[in-house]
Amino acid sequence: MIKVFQYLKRQPKDTSFINGLFVTAFLKGNGLISLHNSVIAEYVFSDEADLKRVDEFLAILLSYEKEFSLEVLISLFEFVVSPADKKVDGAVYTPKYIRKTIIDKCFSKVTNCSKKTRIADIACGCGGFLMDAAQKLHQQTGLSYKVIYEECIFGIDIQPYSIERTKVLLSVAALVDGEDADFDFRLFIHNALDFDFGYVLPDFSGFDVIVGNPPYVCSRYIPQHIKDSMKQWSVCSAGHPDLYIPFFQVAFESLKPNGILGYITVNSFMKSLNGKALRYYFHEKKPLIEILDFRGKQIFKKRSTYTCLFFLRKQESKSVYYAINDEPKYLPDKRQTKVDYQTLDPIKGWTLNRHHEILVYEQKGIPIKEYCQTRHGIATLSNKTYVFMPSSEDERYYYLQRGNETIRIERDICRSIVNSNKLNGEVNFSSIVEKIVFPYKPTENGRMSVIEEDVFAEKYPEAYSYLLGERTVLEKRDKGQAKDYVSWYAYGRTQSLTLPYYKLFFPKIANRPLRCELIGDPSLMLYNGMAFVSDEEERLLVLKKVLESEVFWNYVVANGKPYMSGFYSLNGSNILHFCVPKLSNEEKVGLLKLVDKREIEHFLMDYYT
Ligand SMILES: C[S@@+](CC[C@H](N)C(=O)[O-])C[C@H]1O[C@@H](n2cnc3c(N)ncnc32)[C@H](O)[C@@H]1O
Repeated sequence: MIKVFQYLKRQPKDTSFINGLFVTAFLKGNGLISLHNSVIAEYVFSDEADLKRVDEFLAILLSYEKEFSLEVLISLFEFVVSPADKKVDGAVYTPKYIRKTIIDKCFSKVTNCSKKTRIADIACGCGGFLMDAAQKLHQQTGLSYKVIYEECIFGIDIQPYSIERTKVLLSVAALVDGEDADFDFRLFIHNALDFDFGYVLPDFSGFDVIVGNPPYVCSRYIPQHIKDSMKQWSVCSAGHPDLYIPFFQVAFESLKPNGILGYITVNSFMKSLNGKALRYYFHEKKPLIEILDFRGKQIFKKRSTYTCLFFLRKQESKSVYYAINDEPKYLPDKRQTKVDYQTLDPIKGWTLNRHHEILVYEQKGIPIKEYCQTRHGIATLSNKTYVFMPSSEDERYYYLQRGNETIRIERDICRSIVNSNKLNGEVNFSSIVEKIVFPYKPTENGRMSVIEEDVFAEKYPEAYSYLLGERTVLEKRDKGQAKDYVSWYAYGRTQSLTLPYYKLFFPKIANRPLRCELIGDPSLMLYNGMAFVSDEEERLLVLKKVLESEVFWNYVVANGKPYMSGFYSLNGSNILHFCVPKLSNEEKVGLLKLVDKREIEHFLMDYYT
């Protein structure tokens, strides 16, 4: 399809022209004519030049695709959504096989479909789900599309072009099935978080089915007016909620008793801090939830989103049902495990995968977060400027290479620093130790403060002049707010400028049992990765044995956030509830003496089982 997309990039961008191009080409490509549908009539081209473009476009399209199908039309509609809208509206459309799985499952729970059946997508995009639902209803009941569109199918989207395209899609879908009529759609341009169906539908008593793919937009990209409307939904009261979070509550409250919700959605609400209020909400309502978790598998092409199918029946249930589907091939019917709400913890996050096994690791011993502090390292917000691997050194200077230029930096203003993410592999620790320009001095209370500019310039003229050359870059940090820092050469954040004596470095994401490095050096710093820190070496020696074990890796694989290619996150809630064995002095000495890997595994297995 690359040539099709390249062709579209050269065409006028206005929605009306694009819709016209697609509609006219679709009708021509499928040998269809519409005499009665006003939406189609509005877009069919009659101008000679436009018709020539349609022929060009169709020729390119049909050299890639066997036919101009409704699915091709949906993918074209998705392609023409601007990158900016994709970012702030989360406009990514759902593939057919996922829509089908969701629609089939939801319909299987609706008894006696009729013209009274009401189905909604409250963030409908160009209407893929609504089209599938209408076709299914048409097949099952024989109702005309006119009745279905006017009485059964409801859609909302915040973008006017989405609603317009849903009208187009539904119109041509009916035409393909032989129904050429004009439709009075129940489609609304609105923010779904502020929409009252009771207002537009006087006899509204809830939907039988809600389906869709709510927008995934992370908090920092959500426009302020949408953030304001999110506040009215109690599920948004934890952390910085992503935009998909309130769509669960909106849907739940818009369902009839016994109604069913089917979403494809981001799977992080099960564990994330910003999903906590949502988990509480589910614990309070106890709906019948079924999750098919895709874990690290990617469903949406060219995007890194970690998703699941989420079904909710508005009826009380004791348990949540969970299955994983992370094989390359799609297998919808996976065996579910049943986990009682009572044994799930909304605060810690839902451990649905290998639930009982995880409970053992999380109940026996001392939770890591109480055992030892973790640190994430410093945040300069311009590591390229501050961190470097010296190309050479002498007694007074490190030399750093920037293109053809060799820059001198005084050794005394530098610290050693490690990116512990590099530890996921066979590297020699000393080879990953870099230098960082550290324009700070210790204060009386053991903290760090920025060295005054005149002192900096006088004592370390080479480092000062290097940073001065980078001043414009440094001032652009924090979207230009860096001008408000205590000094233009201060780091972006003040975290982790001092660390306890001992550090147990480990990577933030890994695809194999952990390799940790325990270093006793008060001035060694950290960026990017993570470290457990302490002033007691023994504490970290025990932790090192545990973290490097298969037992711990087994826990990470079951509980951690999976990424593509077998990587798992070791951040925050992914590991902090794991319990380190509570050992007597004798047991501790025993464990520390062990060097054989198998013996260490046995020791730990014995402890946890
Ligand atoms: C992930 S797309 C899903 C589209 C369609 N349901 C599908 O799966 O193919 C999300 C849609 O939500 C819409 N949207 C974003 N914020 C919204 C809001 N506050 N209210 C209603 N729709 C919204 C976007 O315009 C976009 O069309």
